Amino acid sequence: MEILIRPDPEDVAALAAQILAGYAGDGATLGLATGSTPLATYQELIRLHHHEGLSFSKCQAFLLDEYVGLPRDHEQSYYRTIRREFTEHIDIDDSAVHSPDGLTEDSDAAGRAYDEAIQQSGGVDIQLLGVGTNGHIGFNEPGSSLSSPTRLKTLHPQTVKDNARFFERAADVPRHVLTQGLGTISRARHLLLLATGEGKAQAVAALAEGPVSARCPASVLQLHPHATVIVDEAAAQNLQDSEYYRYADANKPHWQRH
Ligand code: GLP
Repeated sequence: MEILIRPDPEDVAALAAQILAGYAGDGATLGLATGSTPLATYQELIRLHHHEGLSFSKCQAFLLDEYVGLPRDHEQSYYRTIRREFTEHIDIDDSAVHSPDGLTEDSDAAGRAYDEAIQQSGGVDIQLLGVGTNGHIGFNEPGSSLSSPTRLKTLHPQTVKDNARFFERAADVPRHVLTQGLGTISRARHLLLLATGEGKAQAVAALAEGPVSARCPASVLQLHPHATVIVDEAAAQNLQDSEYYRYADANKPHWQRH
């Protein structure tokens, strides 16, 4: 796992956008994430599209997750969110932006269909990830099988609390979601996890330096052959070996520089 520490969220976003742009230009299959962390990265990609000719026209995109029971046109559905925050502002074909069907009556079948659609696209080339304060990725809450497929999950009360800021009342936050599983996410060829702010410091230390464990779903990145974690100073503050990560970053062989 490559751990890159940057001074602040803007630098995290600039580097993440640069990495993603390298894939987009080649017409890759992109794994997209919602949440507030990737927003600055999306802003930078939109800027690159408008001002530097970066095109997404040959890309496909698969979202990590979706709330169960929210209509697609609900402002907080992830179907709407990813369009509002990112894909409506670039040249990707709207029909190439996929997300799990949160209105399905048969979540098992919907989960299987989503995993099949990802595979039929050739698989995700790069998966962007945030991390929950409890170590979740997508909506794989603590206790999720490290090899899980896309499926229905019940949100942890901590996640409901964390996400209540997007809804009028905490009671409005859906309790169930369809999420790519940790097995699904792990099949992406490159995982790119971003974390900013001190609220993520504990989760970052656990995922990078703690044991690989379903208690911290993001620790599954330790098993992946190509995982990049970009954090700001605030999110890096609990890392034991941060000096080594900085040293390795500064002394990277030139062919590995982003
Ligand atoms: C949400 C999403 C995750 C996201 C995480 C952190 O619930 N399902 O994909 O990474 O929580 O969100 P934020 O970036 O807003 O802190």
